[in-house]
Amino acid sequence: MKTALNSLRRVGVIAAAAAAAGVLLYAGTAPAQQPGKIKIGLMLPYTGTFAALGTSITNAFKLAIDENGGKLGGREIEYFTVDDESDPAKAPDNANKLIKRDQVDVLVGTVHSGVALAMSKVARDNNTLLVIPNAGADEITGPLCAANVFRTSFSNSQMGIAMGRVMAEQKKKTAVTLTWKYAAGDESVGGFKETFEAGGGKVIKELSLPFPQVEFQSYLTEIAALKPDVVYVFFAGGGAVKFVKDYAAAGLNKTIPLVGAGFLTDGTLEAQGDTAQGLLTTLHYGDGLDNPKNKAFRAAYAKAFKTEPDVYAVQGYDAAQLLIVGMNAVKGDTTKRAELVKAMEGAKLDSPRGPLALNKGHNPIHNIYLRKVEGKENKVIGVAVKDLTDPPRGCKL
Ligand code: BEZ
Repeated sequence: MKTALNSLRRVGVIAAAAAAAGVLLYAGTAPAQQPGKIKIGLMLPYTGTFAALGTSITNAFKLAIDENGGKLGGREIEYFTVDDESDPAKAPDNANKLIKRDQVDVLVGTVHSGVALAMSKVARDNNTLLVIPNAGADEITGPLCAANVFRTSFSNSQMGIAMGRVMAEQKKKTAVTLTWKYAAGDESVGGFKETFEAGGGKVIKELSLPFPQVEFQSYLTEIAALKPDVVYVFFAGGGAVKFVKDYAAAGLNKTIPLVGAGFLTDGTLEAQGDTAQGLLTTLHYGDGLDNPKNKAFRAAYAKAFKTEPDVYAVQGYDAAQLLIVGMNAVKGDTTKRAELVKAMEGAKLDSPRGPLALNKGHNPIHNIYLRKVEGKENKVIGVAVKDLTDPPRGCKL
């Protein structure tokens, strides 16, 4: 027994000595960053009407990381992916899985504003860094703004604000609006109404249907009867494809101009074909923007994925670009949160959309372009609003 105890003690002493040596060795060669991979949680839609949007964001996010040597702040990356199905009811569980089960360092997502509102609450509650590569819910970078929440896309009202101005300048007097009934549509239409009416127009009817329904016939019949000077809509993804086709099939494209937030025709032109020709939209991106970054980005994306990029890809690319700036500043040490956030706040990104900076609420300041569909291109025909930035909207940062 005594011998056994002694030998156990001996093992303990040897282990302690080895551990001490190990600590010394480790201290002597301590890396300048946390060891191991940075865990990125991608929470995006990969099924349903926004599936293609989620794929574009994922592709371009990874492209930017690959162009950065496959690393963030010198650390390799491990991706964790969740299909959020654009379902707000599932959002808290999905976000919690990534944060609690997978222990991600950064959340990236999502597309749908309702999902993003729930996701950003979970991110705020857990103080997890979140970068939003699409969903435009105005509140997230307004009254709900937070040090750990950033957005590289837009806020929903921006496109409506821009198009309302353009339509008022074109002396349109009456408008009907139509959208899915949720934050994105309501805020997009709200922006349009604000500037269109301030410019002398009148929104005579606000129509809506639940997300993601696409039975448009009764709404088209009502629009035909109302005969407004213009129709402003918010639709995206598969719903946008169907709406533009149905509008043309009803013959309305010959009689009542259809305009919208640019999501109506972005990433959709292949499927919409002739039915989209001539449509005017407002967006913070246009395919043919003449800047070196856009040209390089489009060529690299087309080479890697054998398809043309869209606005969602741009936003995913910029989400990674923003994280690269932050992680480089702290050499991948995510525990240096204040420094990381400060670097991201001050980032001046060379985006395919043009120069990109963030306002106090961490929302983009960028040009909103007026675009016209010509062939398979959303051609930029003007700048609807230069350097558009949101008002503080109660953000306390
Ligand atoms: C949104 O829900 O915020 C959204 C979805 C698709 C395109 C644009 C905005």
